[in-house]
Amino acid sequence: MCGIVGFVGKGDAKKFVIEALKKLEYRGYDSWGISFVEGNNLRVFKETGKISEIFPEKIQAKTRLAIGHTRWATHGGVTKLNAHPHTDCKQNIAVVHNGIINNFESLKTDLEKKGHKFISETDTEVIPHLVEENLNKNNSLLEAFQITLNKLQGDFAICLIVSKENKIYVAASGCPLAIGIGKDAKYISSDLLAFAGFTSEVVFVRDGTMAEVGENLKIYDIKTGNEKKVVFQKIPTQIHQAERGNFKHFLFKEINEQPKTLEKIVAMDQKEIETNAALIRNSFGTFFTACGTAYHAALSAEYLFARFAKMHVNTAIASEFPAFENFITDKTLLFAISQSGETADVIEAVKTARAKKAKVFSLLNNPDSTLGRLSDVVMITPAGREIAVLSTKAFTSQLGILYLLSCATAGGLDKAKKNLKDASKSVSEILKSSNIDQIKKLAQKLKNSKNLFTIGRGFNFPTALEAALKIKEVSYIHAEGFAGGELKHGTIALIEKDVPCIVFAANDETKDAILSNAQEIKARGGYIIGVSPKNHPVFDYWLKVADVSDLSPIVNIVPIQVLAYFLALEKGLDPDKPRNLAKSVTVK
Ligand code: M6R
Repeated sequence: MCGIVGFVGKGDAKKFVIEALKKLEYRGYDSWGISFVEGNNLRVFKETGKISEIFPEKIQAKTRLAIGHTRWATHGGVTKLNAHPHTDCKQNIAVVHNGIINNFESLKTDLEKKGHKFISETDTEVIPHLVEENLNKNNSLLEAFQITLNKLQGDFAICLIVSKENKIYVAASGCPLAIGIGKDAKYISSDLLAFAGFTSEVVFVRDGTMAEVGENLKIYDIKTGNEKKVVFQKIPTQIHQAERGNFKHFLFKEINEQPKTLEKIVAMDQKEIETNAALIRNSFGTFFTACGTAYHAALSAEYLFARFAKMHVNTAIASEFPAFENFITDKTLLFAISQSGETADVIEAVKTARAKKAKVFSLLNNPDSTLGRLSDVVMITPAGREIAVLSTKAFTSQLGILYLLSCATAGGLDKAKKNLKDASKSVSEILKSSNIDQIKKLAQKLKNSKNLFTIGRGFNFPTALEAALKIKEVSYIHAEGFAGGELKHGTIALIEKDVPCIVFAANDETKDAILSNAQEIKARGGYIIGVSPKNHPVFDYWLKVADVSDLSPIVNIVPIQVLAYFLALEKGLDPDKPRNLAKSVTVK
């Protein structure tokens, strides 16, 4: 998690770093901070909260060297002291870090015995103190940095500055980090977005390497200290910041973009879909892996491939993937799904699969990401940049592409494209203002609910899971999703008068059974919200959706995305940046 940024060269380093941090806030927005050198003094400025909420103008100094950080807390609460950058005892060394240092406790204990004073609860603070300790032993800064890095266990992307050098020292292991090469400046970041528009030439700091970034750029191997060849690459220049347009929030804008993104999927290259479908068809053992919403898309894939391709594919939550890694061979196809392409658990699963020589196929929304670089085959969901922390248009795009792939394995691509086109029209229908008003009213009714349940069967079981996730992450209402038949195996004990339950009743083979489940809940006082093409006496509130047959998961999730958005507004919450979350989850 967290975003890190650095600048060295001609120009206002502080200004660049603050503007870049604003772009990276989606990686974490608990607190932020920057450090720069003024004269011969290292200065550090930190704040809790979002960058846009305070006035960076307070930081007056012009400087040619600065580093910055936007934090998603792992070790230590959300406080100013725990915000990065962290410094050594003498305030000569400042460090920003993305990742987790697993052995920080033992390192800290050793350093404390040697007299180092710690002021935060973070794992990161050991880094500047270790460098300080190694400098005290007459090492050069580069040597002290290398010795320090070799003591760290865990994942990191690090930027370090000291008061008397015009360089930034960086290192990476398990976390992304890139250096943008400008004419008169070098830009460092965990995310290419930070320097998009400034340069298209980039050097990726590969795992296990460190670099000295000043007027010149030198890369070294962390273990041996040997200098390595610097590899320059070009990045697409079209990476740009998304705009909100006339919408008040990115979330609502992105929900409303779905009819268009689905149409783009219909227009995707036929050959690409067929070739990739054949790859899945011919693979021996296919594993889908992903996290969060993307995992719900993976779970849908299990149902889609069972129905259309008559294939059993395995699905694993990426963080649970290690339990199954013994089944991965050089014949396996690992299918990773990720909006960002930067999710640590997914990257870890992919690295494991690669080590076993399995083929890696990734379905990503970010065309330039770590996962993309690690994959043999990449398909890009044409959803465009997703800014709101909640995944919406990326999810329905993933579903759309998985549907086409599964149908294409059985030669049914043309019909599938037609069905998807119809589904895109049905999504437009849901987003008409009269329907939005109806959902808004439902949000007013539900805003004080403490618990909420969602149920679906077959294709709509993953929809129920996704609906619950959408509601809880943005409205903080406790919501749980179940397979329709499962609720009575325990959770039905929580149903009492007026507990809302969203029932996905598609017009398919699961309809009668799911309506019976709705009756069971109603009999115990539950308040039934039916998402269905047809009204039914069991529904207390009906959200009408079109009958789109096998594509019901795409259409059914949309009113619930809208409901989640209005629940957040009703409760006075920020729909784009819910508490405790970050858009890219780059720690395990
Ligand atoms: O970038 P990814 O798709 O790999 O992210 C996976 C999850 O972190 C993500 O879907 C998360 O669950 C969202 N907050 C859901 O809205």
